[in-house]
Amino acid sequence: MKPIPILLTLTTALVGGPAWAADAAHGKQLHEKTCVGCHRNMTGGDGSVLYTRSQRRVHNLAQLESQVRRCETNLNLKWFDDDILDVVEYLNQQYYKFPKKK
Ligand code: HEC
Repeated sequence: MKPIPILLTLTTALVGGPAWAADAAHGKQLHEKTCVGCHRNMTGGDGSVLYTRSQRRVHNLAQLESQVRRCETNLNLKWFDDDILDVVEYLNQQYYKFPKKK
């Protein structure tokens, strides 16, 4: 785990204006194909309680990105950064709703 580069990536993405082109629709597809199944098995239902439970792990955008990376790395998916950021964008829009720095 290398927190500093991850934070830099996220900051660049958030502050970089036009460079932030995360595609939540693509993120949703990736998430449904790859991520939901295991979370569903863990929690029952559609798995989304993992993101909305009161004792959830993730409390800000940087943590959301690191958690997405952590699950992605565990699965050895070798996603591109764009894929990660698309999923982060989708999860944030849909569930976490952390404010983005403008
Ligand atoms: C093989 C099972 C598995 C798969 C597949 C999986 N995860 Fe997870 N995920 C977990 C587990 C286990 C946790 C809970 C970790 C904990 O609570 O300590 C978790 C937690 C999370 C959380 C944090 C939820 C919170 O508490 O706020 C996020 C975000 C997340 N996963 C994203 C993803 C994404 C994105 C993918 C697809 C790339 C994915 N996961 C695929 C097992 C999985």
